[in-house]
Amino acid sequence: MVNRQWRVARPVQAGERIGAAHFVLESAPLGPLEPGQIRVRTHVLSTSPAQRSYLSAARSMHAKVAVGEVMRGRGVGVVVESRHELWPVGTVVNGSLGWQDYAVLAPEAASGGILHLERIREPVEPLARHLGVLGSTGATAYFGLLDVGALKAGDTVVISAAAGGVGSIAGQIARLRGARVIGIAGGPEKCRWIVEDLGFDAAIDYRAGDLGARLAELCPSGIDLYFDNVGGTILEAALERLAVGARVVICGFIATDGDDTAPGPRGYKNLLRRRARMQGFFIFDYQARMAEAEAALRGWYESGLLKPTEQEVRGLEHMPEVLAGLFTGENRGVALCRVADLSLRDALHPR
Ligand SMILES: NC(=O)c1ccc[n+]([C@@H]2O[C@H](COP(=O)([O-])OP(=O)(O)OC[C@H]3O[C@@H](n4cnc5c(N)ncnc54)[C@H](OP(=O)(O)O)[C@@H]3O)[C@@H](O)[C@H]2O)c1
Repeated sequence: MVNRQWRVARPVQAGERIGAAHFVLESAPLGPLEPGQIRVRTHVLSTSPAQRSYLSAARSMHAKVAVGEVMRGRGVGVVVESRHELWPVGTVVNGSLGWQDYAVLAPEAASGGILHLERIREPVEPLARHLGVLGSTGATAYFGLLDVGALKAGDTVVISAAAGGVGSIAGQIARLRGARVIGIAGGPEKCRWIVEDLGFDAAIDYRAGDLGARLAELCPSGIDLYFDNVGGTILEAALERLAVGARVVICGFIATDGDDTAPGPRGYKNLLRRRARMQGFFIFDYQARMAEAEAALRGWYESGLLKPTEQEVRGLEHMPEVLAGLFTGENRGVALCRVADLSLRDALHPR
């Protein structure tokens, strides 16, 4: 039995696109486990724009991954071998599995206060849901809107990267909580998808130009809550349209990620003029409240009110392309990579 592993081949330079050249796929034999360790078969891996920062020298709150190390990444998998009595074979887990077929983990190990592995106590099929609507992507949308953004019924909410992982879920939650939701996305097909399939009230294709005029047209009384995944000129356009008392939630800044010299944002003076506030957040700070988000997301999902938006590419060999696709807008919804076809039956009746 061999373990295919994507290792970091070289760092990402400032301004460089991340892609296949930064990784190398190697195979290693499976070694024996030590007491307290488990072996997890990876089922599906998620991607995040933050992963680019693991390889770059730019300032980031994430630990770096050195050249030669297995690329860090979150995934869902099943314990296939165990030397830990509390984590038996068949346990379904969610955590930092890395870009590999099999991960050897010590379940209690934490780094920077963050636990790297959680047990999925009530798994649903497909297991990929636990990286999408029922996972940390869903929780990021949930806490960003409701806690940081203090969403109120009747708010006019604008979301950037609205057809991405966090954005596609955030828009649906805002609608469920009685807001009017406008999504900003790249291209007519993504705009059609968020309105017709996900129920956004309107969409703006930022690539078609004139974002400011479109925001003015669609938000005549201003934006009450702007949920930003992008930064750069899209954030600046939103700041120009803030309503009095607006909340600007900084979830991410993919447009300028890795560029410590990027200026901005223009228009911040409107925070004073509109008595608005702008606040960033980090999902791992909500670890103690995760059960609250999971219960709400599961309730909406099971009653058919929250549509899953995961999109899977099959094959570990495609992992670098899936990550690169976040920066070129290839993905629609939560971008995942299926590594092995495991089902709940495999988990409960391991071979
Ligand atoms: N604060 C937290 O704890 C936390 C947790 C998770 C994620 N995040 C952040 O949340 C954001 C969304 O993450 P995600 O994983 O769901 O990724 P995502 O939104 O699925 O993927 C990125 C999307 O961003 C858009 N994009 C890429 N480059 C762009 C640019 N230069 N200008 C405008 N749009 C651009 C693309 O959509 P288009 O085709 O529409 O351009 C792309 O599909 C990211 O900024 C991420 O870092 C934050």
